[in-house]
Amino acid sequence: MTTTKLDIQAIRDQFPILSQKVNGYPLVYLDNAASNQKPKAVIDAISNYYETTHSNVHRGVHYLSQRATEAFEHGRETMAKFVNARHVNEIVFTSGTTDSINLVAQTWARKFLKEGDEIILSHLEHHSNIVPWQMACEEKGAIIKVIPINEKGELDQEAYRALLSAKTKLVAVNHVSNALGTVNPIKQMAADAHAVGAVFLADGAQATAHVALDVQDLDCDFYTISGHKMYGPTGIGILYGKLDLLNAMPPWRGGGEMIKSVSFEGTTYNELPHKFEAGTPHIEGVIALAAAAQWMMDLGIEAMAAHEDHLLHLATEGLKTIDGLKLIGTADNKASVVSFVVEGVHPFDIGSLLDQMGIAVRTGHHCTEPLMNLLCIPGTVRASFSVYNTEEEVEKLIAGVKKACSMLL
Ligand code: ALA
Repeated sequence: MTTTKLDIQAIRDQFPILSQKVNGYPLVYLDNAASNQKPKAVIDAISNYYETTHSNVHRGVHYLSQRATEAFEHGRETMAKFVNARHVNEIVFTSGTTDSINLVAQTWARKFLKEGDEIILSHLEHHSNIVPWQMACEEKGAIIKVIPINEKGELDQEAYRALLSAKTKLVAVNHVSNALGTVNPIKQMAADAHAVGAVFLADGAQATAHVALDVQDLDCDFYTISGHKMYGPTGIGILYGKLDLLNAMPPWRGGGEMIKSVSFEGTTYNELPHKFEAGTPHIEGVIALAAAAQWMMDLGIEAMAAHEDHLLHLATEGLKTIDGLKLIGTADNKASVVSFVVEGVHPFDIGSLLDQMGIAVRTGHHCTEPLMNLLCIPGTVRASFSVYNTEEEVEKLIAGVKKACSMLL
């Protein structure tokens, strides 16, 4: 595939936060997997909304309420386009991936799971794609099965197929692993799940900024997104769900907006997607999330991914030359994350020394304790890339890790 080469400096100039110094050094922000930074287009969408449009949505006959409602629902249309949903009502706004997964666990699972049913997760999952299912299974007497990984940090597809059976009701795996960067073959995995009649949920939190999405092609039943990992604000995300599944699910949170009529004798619920959006929504969040999605679509997600792949390759090759350093996660198909440990050194100490050089990375278990326990490590140092990162920053990371190791060993 040929992709347009991006002007990275012109992109960086759109991110005001990147021009600051940290501990006397120019900031090198490589903690993008935890949360990436926001371009002016997103920041302006928030201030413009409050300066010109703010009012509550879906409630007023007056001008501002109608304008706010139009902007909010336009945000839903943009997100439907971003993931290529069949219908705009398949987009439910949530506070992010954690909230989206909990919504499915508290509605779909509570209604459809029965004692002895099985849910398949994987060893690569973030806690947010483990704990909500444990809570649902505990209540319903259902069982969790776990897909193992190979030595590269890839899901063992043969073992996955062997776990699938008529008892499997749901498979929930991440599209991209936040800890290792592994890109999972979710299109094939969804097809395998469907072959035994199971529902397939993909946790897309880590994928959205790096992979062009087409939920119809992937044929996922549910797909979850966090806005703050795709250049959008915190506290907003989406649950994509196929219409028939969302329609069959009971509401979760009760309140205004999610009802058609209320009386003390009984309440009737609203249609999709409002059925799942109780209370005043995160209006500016939706508008700014749509601005982020549009910004990405305008740049071209394939071109963004190509640049990040180049940085990932440079970082991987450079870090490999450091004595005692071991890469954790060497999948053939990876996106934007390089995780590593250094023999005899705690990840936290490397992270702290890098911070003193102005380099932001994440250290620790990355909310994937079962994975770290399986690998028998306390955690990793993780550098993760976004479109605004440069080759020079990768060189600073490699030099910084070398320097930290020479100080600590
Ligand atoms: N899930 C986020 C991370 O990987 C917070 O850092």
